[in-house]
Amino acid sequence: MSSSKQIIAHSFKLLLISVTNLEKVTPLKEKISIFSEKIMDRPEALKILEEMTQSESLLRHARTVELVMEALGAAVGEDPAPYALTGLLHDADYEMYPDQHPKIIVQKLEELGEKEIAHAIAGHYTKWEVPRLTMMDKCIVAADELTGFIVACALIRPTKIEGMKVKSVTKKLKTATFAAKVDREEVYKGAELIGWELSDLISFIIDVLQDHKVELELT
Ligand SMILES: [Fe+2]
Repeated sequence: MSSSKQIIAHSFKLLLISVTNLEKVTPLKEKISIFSEKIMDRPEALKILEEMTQSESLLRHARTVELVMEALGAAVGEDPAPYALTGLLHDADYEMYPDQHPKIIVQKLEELGEKEIAHAIAGHYTKWEVPRLTMMDKCIVAADELTGFIVACALIRPTKIEGMKVKSVTKKLKTATFAAKVDREEVYKGAELIGWELSDLISFIIDVLQDHKVELELT
């Protein structure tokens, strides 16, 4: 055998040994995680949401926050996919486990390896005082209450989201009796967290909802 053929044969033998050892010592799951991190797809996330949620208004809230989060992710220059999933799932356990929310959905996502999304959802529940470390952690706080509030504003208008002005939303925010469950402090804090003017955030959310007004039945 020529020396070059010997080198090739030797290299091939070494490769076989290392692959054989890898098979022996590395479980399949760990091998996959070396090459590709698990990222939940939307159908999987939607299945989790629909298993725990029947209410039409909660499903619309999930969809609206998903759309706003997806747009925010793109606006801040990050991958919008995990942002969208965070929005879609942030209240997934609220209807079935109101006393434990968001513990159940956070645990489920952690078990599935979706730690970044789980952390953002844990952080959106202010009572836990989880630090908002990532931009996505901050965006879900900025998107959640304010999106719900703007939808509430739209639902009482004859033309719904069409023609809605920022000023009408800011005025209603100052009316404590309107959508009283929406925590105003959290709305103001959300915009501050992401470093946006509140009026810019309101305008951004109105635009997203207007882009999807037919699907969201806001027309
Ligand atoms: Fe929410």
